[in-house]
Amino acid sequence: MWQVQLHKIGYDEKEYNAVKEVLDSGWLTLGEKTLTFESAFCDLLGYDTKCLAVSNGTAALHMALLAGCIGKDDEVITPSLTFIADQNVTMLVGAKNVLADITSMDDWSPDPDDIEARITPRTKALVIVHYAGFACDMERITALCKKYNLFLVEDCAHTPGADYKGRPLGTFGDISAFSFFANKNIATGEGGMVVTRYDELYEKLRLMRSHGMSVPSFDRYKGRAASYDVESPGLNYRINEMCSALGIVQLQKLDDANEKRKKLVKHYYNRLGDVPSVSIPYRHFSRGKPNYHIMPVLLSESVERAKAIEFMKNAGVQTSIHYPAIQNFSAYKDKVNPTPKAEYVSAHELTLPLYPTMTTGEVDIVCDALIGALQS
Ligand SMILES: Cc1ncc(COP(=O)(O)O)c(C=O)c1O
Repeated sequence: MWQVQLHKIGYDEKEYNAVKEVLDSGWLTLGEKTLTFESAFCDLLGYDTKCLAVSNGTAALHMALLAGCIGKDDEVITPSLTFIADQNVTMLVGAKNVLADITSMDDWSPDPDDIEARITPRTKALVIVHYAGFACDMERITALCKKYNLFLVEDCAHTPGADYKGRPLGTFGDISAFSFFANKNIATGEGGMVVTRYDELYEKLRLMRSHGMSVPSFDRYKGRAASYDVESPGLNYRINEMCSALGIVQLQKLDDANEKRKKLVKHYYNRLGDVPSVSIPYRHFSRGKPNYHIMPVLLSESVERAKAIEFMKNAGVQTSIHYPAIQNFSAYKDKVNPTPKAEYVSAHELTLPLYPTMTTGEVDIVCDALIGALQS
């Protein structure tokens, strides 16, 4: 149906073999592959991180707020331009979402000044997102957390391989949450990683992931224990071995895949840099190495976005929007504060196709379709 899809899985025989190995092994959930995946992820991040693979990024975010003891009567400052999981988990633990606006039309990261202006005596946690794999201003954000004693959660769904001034994203938060959803830089279908540098939080998260049980099923399968205690109430947010096996391979491919994304994005910049009615965020980014998770552009007010999307669809090009305004969702109408800059971006942003196996010829098809849409 599409000439150019928004995203494409780039698996080869390595992923097929990794999953086959699991299927042949006789053990499908949280076992050796998961331990290997976690250990490789710790190596990727460094900074003495402890990593637990979980069922998805939302589970990781939910666990982060629960482990931070965030609940009723607390306020959590969350990003205004993000996937709704940040707000959903906040709402579901019983806390109030207070949205922080983005910084500018060029920098769509949560604005430290706006964050500070929204802090009240009830603010207990701050959730940040590194949009498209571009680091937030971590110097300002960590300083704010220290000053106001805030529990920091990094939503790292977009960040594998990206850093802030050389330090990997995911190593700043009290807890960080990664997603390995099908379109992510590490794609395992479903999957996530919850990360912390603190032993006490790690122990809480480890128990929470699997029903609060002192001994995982794998240890009983291996004959290392016969029974278990339940040390605290928990959930089942375990990852399965097939996803962990995919994660190990995807992690090995990450640097190369991110490099390919970078080249494609440069080609987009060359093609679209001077096109009237199109601006590209983060063009002069200097806070670290991005991983180019997605390719967002901002259309000018004179462009009817819905028409442009339809024109591009007819040209065989799939697009998306990152992200619709939270204020417009039924569940959040009148429950969250306005964030004018993010709402403007939500109304005019368009996400173009980007994935490591894309060709520059496919980038040209997308750009031609977009330029055609703007001229139509
Ligand atoms: C910014 C952001 N946060 C959280 C999530 C949730 O991750 P998952 O889909 O793995 O639950 C996503 C994934 O789409 C995301 O893009």
